[in-house]
Amino acid sequence: LAPVNKAQGSLTFTELAHGLDPYLSVSPGYQAQVLVSWGDALFPNTPAFDPNMQTEQRQLKQFGYNNDFIGFVSLPLGSSASDRGLLVVNHEYCSSEMMFPGSPSEMALSEEQTNVNIAAHGLSVVEIALQADGQWQLVLNSPYNRRITPHTPMQMTGPAAGSRRLFTRYSTDGIQTRGTYGNCAGGVTPWGTILTGEENVDGFFGGDFSASNEGENYRRFGMASDFRCSWGLHHERWDMRHNPAEPMHVGWVVEIDPYDPQSVPKKRTALGRFKHEGANVFVNADNKVVAYSGDDQQFEYLYRFISKGYYQPDNRQANLSLLDEGTLYCARFAADGSMQWLPLVFGQGPLTPENGFHSQADVQLDCRKAADLLGATPMDRPEDVEVNPVTGQVYVMLTNNSRRTEAQVDGPNPRAENRAGQVLEMTPPGGDHCAEQFNWELLLVAGKKGQAGTQYHPDISENGWLACPDNCAFDSLGNLWIATDGAESAGIADGIWATEVNGPNRALTKRFLRTPQGAELCGPFFTPDTQNLFCSVQHPGGGSSFDNPKTRWPDFSDDLPPRPSVVVVTKQGGGRIGS
Ligand code: FEO
Ligand code: CA
Ligand code: CA
Ligand code: CA
Repeated sequence: LAPVNKAQGSLTFTELAHGLDPYLSVSPGYQAQVLVSWGDALFPNTPAFDPNMQTEQRQLKQFGYNNDFIGFVSLPLGSSASDRGLLVVNHEYCSSEMMFPGSPSEMALSEEQTNVNIAAHGLSVVEIALQADGQWQLVLNSPYNRRITPHTPMQMTGPAAGSRRLFTRYSTDGIQTRGTYGNCAGGVTPWGTILTGEENVDGFFGGDFSASNEGENYRRFGMASDFRCSWGLHHERWDMRHNPAEPMHVGWVVEIDPYDPQSVPKKRTALGRFKHEGANVFVNADNKVVAYSGDDQQFEYLYRFISKGYYQPDNRQANLSLLDEGTLYCARFAADGSMQWLPLVFGQGPLTPENGFHSQADVQLDCRKAADLLGATPMDRPEDVEVNPVTGQVYVMLTNNSRRTEAQVDGPNPRAENRAGQVLEMTPPGGDHCAEQFNWELLLVAGKKGQAGTQYHPDISENGWLACPDNCAFDSLGNLWIATDGAESAGIADGIWATEVNGPNRALTKRFLRTPQGAELCGPFFTPDTQNLFCSVQHPGGGSSFDNPKTRWPDFSDDLPPRPSVVVVTKQGGGRIGS
């Protein structure tokens, strides 16, 4: 790495101006390569993408829709290569009116279109390599390439596995399960697996569930009798009249081993069931493994898991089950700058049969209710939570919460009708992530510069303000890179802003990237050398249609709709991103 000029700080890149247009833009001196787009081949002999010829069979061999989280793991396993690795990408949801000619509404999809839509969810795993000319390429004949879909066989593991509440028409043991969808953010573990969070799973289901015992749980999740998605119209699996327990199989963190394409993904019930934005693992000084996760819904909670076992740097096989046993905690914040982690343990405190909890499995399945009873603090949509690898401090992206009232304002959620969000910083005492109490502070309160209630470094430029922090990443120097979802509501394109988190430039956010109109920016992820930044451009042209899109990014061909894509940003001539 080039030496850092302390006086100037480490983020010396030229700031990009605000704007809102059909293009992706990066800071002057940087370049963005479109690496892979919806419909691109992931295997040899995959037919070329043609939206007029799309079928389920084709989609199963192609990159899925609405890429969100990105993880990059180096090849070979155990190396920290920055020029060859596996890209693992979530496909959160589909925008049917932008996918199919004629712009059909979601509920008007044919059975084949529905099956295309289903197959476009889940994840893609694809090997990528940096070529001599500085361009990245997909390696189509790689044995690692894989599509994971809502049909992929998976297993429930941990305390809720085998619970009778998980028995369905398709799972007679509550252990076998199938598929993942609604995958939002995620994380890469120190042992090279991917954690992907199942988030807005409610919208995939329909059908009257009044006969189910899970009504309270489902209503809290947002399940409704009305079908809002075509899946349940064509497949009884997603129709709660026919298969009432199926929603209990989603809302989990799924662990995937990208280095073993035959591996069965595991739903880690020890991390609880809620609208997981993602999960990020940190190895504590004593080698306990700590995972942080947010429940991204208005007034929901922040969670921490601590493993029972210990991370073993030389025993990957043992690490692969670390997330099955341990203790889950929810967070309660106090006005004095302290916060407490409250354990979600069956039989302790209010988590007893009198309150409907008959086992640890019940606690994992009804996390939200358990956290209510413990007095966790309702947050402004906790999204990505990450640990700064340099300082060990924990950062939480809180996107927004327009429903918070003046009476509900508290320390970490300081504004009523919060439309722009904030970034929360938590400091474990002495760097101990297993401590019962941390301290907290707000790093910044987002929104238009100068607007009442915002909080930034006083020297941010006219382009330095942001809105709706959603995902984040740290570079190798410990600088925070914030990606947004919803800045368009404040009149500017979504994108990425970077800031130092300590010292004189703390909260001096600078804009680095702008998405094309209608898109949010997800999954920023650095290669280990901080010279490549992978970015997920999700739902470009969002809010328009296949036939009349706001943008045709990235192809700008009259024959193609806008396509969600992963781009890789590099510095022209090479060098550290941010310099
Ligand atoms: Fe899928 Fe929380 O954004
Ligand atoms: Ca997100
Ligand atoms: Ca992240
Ligand atoms: Ca979001």
